[in-house]
Amino acid sequence: MRLCIIGTGYVGLVTGTCFAEVGHQVVCVDCDAAKIAALQAGQMPIYEPGLEELVQRNKAAGRLDFTTSTKEGVDRADIIFIAVPTPPLPDGSVDLSFMEGVSRDIAAAMTSYKIVVDKSTVPVKTGEKVAETIKRYCKARVEFDVVSNPEFLREGFAVEDFLKPDRIVIGVRSPRPVAAMKELYAPFNAPIIVTDINSAELIKHAANSFLALKISYINAVAAICEASGANVEEVANGIGMDKRIGRAFLNAGIGFGGSCFPKDLSAFIRISEDLGCPFHLLREVQRINAAQMDRFIKKITDTLWVLKGKTLGVLGLAFKQNTDDIRMSPAIELCQRLLKEGARLRVHDPKAMPKARAVLPDVEYVDDMNAVAEGCDALVIATEWEEFKKLDLERARKTLSHPILFDGRNLFDPAEMERLGFIYKSVGR
Ligand code: UDX
Repeated sequence: MRLCIIGTGYVGLVTGTCFAEVGHQVVCVDCDAAKIAALQAGQMPIYEPGLEELVQRNKAAGRLDFTTSTKEGVDRADIIFIAVPTPPLPDGSVDLSFMEGVSRDIAAAMTSYKIVVDKSTVPVKTGEKVAETIKRYCKARVEFDVVSNPEFLREGFAVEDFLKPDRIVIGVRSPRPVAAMKELYAPFNAPIIVTDINSAELIKHAANSFLALKISYINAVAAICEASGANVEEVANGIGMDKRIGRAFLNAGIGFGGSCFPKDLSAFIRISEDLGCPFHLLREVQRINAAQMDRFIKKITDTLWVLKGKTLGVLGLAFKQNTDDIRMSPAIELCQRLLKEGARLRVHDPKAMPKARAVLPDVEYVDDMNAVAEGCDALVIATEWEEFKKLDLERARKTLSHPILFDGRNLFDPAEMERLGFIYKSVGR
């Protein structure tokens, strides 16, 4: 099938590339000429495992192409995906100006029937606005359908999540685009749910808010575990074995971050308020997430007392493992707060150091994770990178001026760390 994807960010690029991988003909559009030129030259604008290889393979096979022209993209496709940013505004609502602009561009370019699919995360009722806008600005007066098709991609696993989805949600206003949407997704062999557009849009915000709620729930339980001497990991295992609850997203830590959860949570709260049914529970989810960072910093200052003049080693800057993304990263917030307390920092992240330099200019970047501890008063783990579990603990213990490790992601076994001679403080254990 012939597809056009407008927006080559995390979502758009992964969507276009994975559709090409299963045999569709895809043209990706972006207004950023430098980005399109780089993609044409085979350079990736983001780090996402497996993506580069897929882009190169599908480009070489002639199934994947890049352009800055929306007109060209629309002409060459029957199904047009909108995958543009929907950033938060200061009041928590969503900036839909890119959605509106692209809807107008599509309308101006359409000369025959098109299916316009919204992939971006948007407030409920946005599909209606997109349809109104296209109708208003389409001079050619051609027919079209608007579809809501939210993404559920985790950064760092986006290719895997796209190729092996749990479910595909297709929100429509009429049955007309359903057959084409089902054909498009047939190669993925996943359950397909067809809903109205408003429900599809709500599914996205409700899903992400629920996942954030799970994390805050376990973080609140972690605080109770610390106060009572219980172990949050055992509690999470115990409740997670109930099929109705599930073990996933019950890992206590320094809180959730990233470009999705904080933004989607704020947006969903705002949407609920605008609709006259304020979702107070979600405000508590936000409050617990903020408190989790405060509690972790208190743990550090309770142990080290004054941070001014002390050097801390920090492992992890990305908002989670397998990504170079530092947007709303709890690890970055942690570093900024430690710096504010007067600490000096030696930091390492397997992928996020280049991006971190812009927001953390006054720290020492260390290329080798095993060298970070050298001369530090304590070591802090801020991101759940798998490779940190292979840290040379013997070397860390010897090179730290005091063998103190604050583990914000519960990567190590407390009993084992004690046996190795560490003063080891993790979360909820
Ligand atoms: C999320 C959703 O998972 C995805 O379906 C959606 O489409 C986009 O938003 P992503 O932002 O890539 O994906 O990250 P995710 O893997 O969900 O992690 C979000 C944050 O929660 C990270 O900061 C992570 O460290 C934290 N987290 C996750 C926990 O603290 N504990 C957990 O148990 C799981």
